[in-house]
Amino acid sequence: MSTAKKEYRRVTVKSLVDMKKNGEKISMLTAYDYSMAKIVDSANVDVILVGDSASNVMAGHETTLPITLDQMIYHATSVIRAVQRALVVVDIPFGSYQSDPKEALRSAIRIMKESGAHAVKLEGGEEIKESVKRILNAGIPVMGHLGLTPQSIYKFGTYTVRAKEEEEAEKLLADAKLLEELGCFSIVLEKIPAELTKEVSESISIPTIGIGGGKHADGQVLVIHDLLGMTHEFNPRFLRRYMNLYEDMGHAISQYVTDVKNRDFPNDQEQY
Ligand code: KIV
Repeated sequence: MSTAKKEYRRVTVKSLVDMKKNGEKISMLTAYDYSMAKIVDSANVDVILVGDSASNVMAGHETTLPITLDQMIYHATSVIRAVQRALVVVDIPFGSYQSDPKEALRSAIRIMKESGAHAVKLEGGEEIKESVKRILNAGIPVMGHLGLTPQSIYKFGTYTVRAKEEEEAEKLLADAKLLEELGCFSIVLEKIPAELTKEVSESISIPTIGIGGGKHADGQVLVIHDLLGMTHEFNPRFLRRYMNLYEDMGHAISQYVTDVKNRDFPNDQEQY
C-alpha cells in the first residue's frame, strides 16, 4: 500500500475513495460560517462538515435536535462561499428525513439547491434505507453516520461509547455493509471501540471517518471549536486540543477592555 500523498485541487467523493485505496488518511473538520470555513479550507482539510453540531456550538442548545433545515442551509451557504478545495458535506437535521423517504429527498434537494453543497449526511442504517436510496437515486452523494448518533440521544440516554456488546456491534457492521451496498461514499463512525472500527474499515471499500473511533478509521473528524479549545467544558478522551482559544481569546478581550477603560486604545496612530 502506497502512502504517497497525491495533490487534490478539488476534493470529490471519488477522491476520498481513492485516498482510502492509496492508504492516505482523510482529514475532516466542521465549519459553520464563512470566516472559519476559509481558514479550514486554506489549511487543506479534505472534507468540511456543516454539522448539526452547529446546534450546540453556534446556537448553545444542549443537543443537535432543535436545529432546523433552514438554519442548516444558512450555515451551509456561508461555508460554500468560502470553500475552494474541500468537499462540503451537510447534515440533514433531525425531523427532516425520519418521517418518510419523500421528505428526506425534499430536504436533501433543498440543501443542495439552496446552499450549493456537495453531499449530505444522515444518521442511521437499516431504518433509513429507503431514504438513502431515494436521495442517491436523485444523484445526491450520501455520507452515512453510525455508532453514537446524536440525533437519537434520548433513545440512548447517554453519550457513552456505543456497540461494546456483540449484538450492537454486529448490527453496526451489517449497517455499514448496507450503506456501502446502497452507494454511500463514506461513513462516519462515532464513539465505538477501536477494534470494531478496524473490522468495519477492513470490511468495506468506502472510507470510514472516525470521531472517537480510534486510529484504524480511514479518516478523522473533529468539531472545530473542540480542536481549537473554544469549548472548554467538553473533555472526552478522544479529543485532542491543538489550542486553548477559550483562554487566549478571554485574555485578548480582557486586555481590550482594560485598554479602552485606560484610554490607551485607540492611540494617536490608530486614529484619523
Ligand atoms: O454534527 C457533527 O459535528 C457531526 C460530527 C460529530 C461527525 O456529525
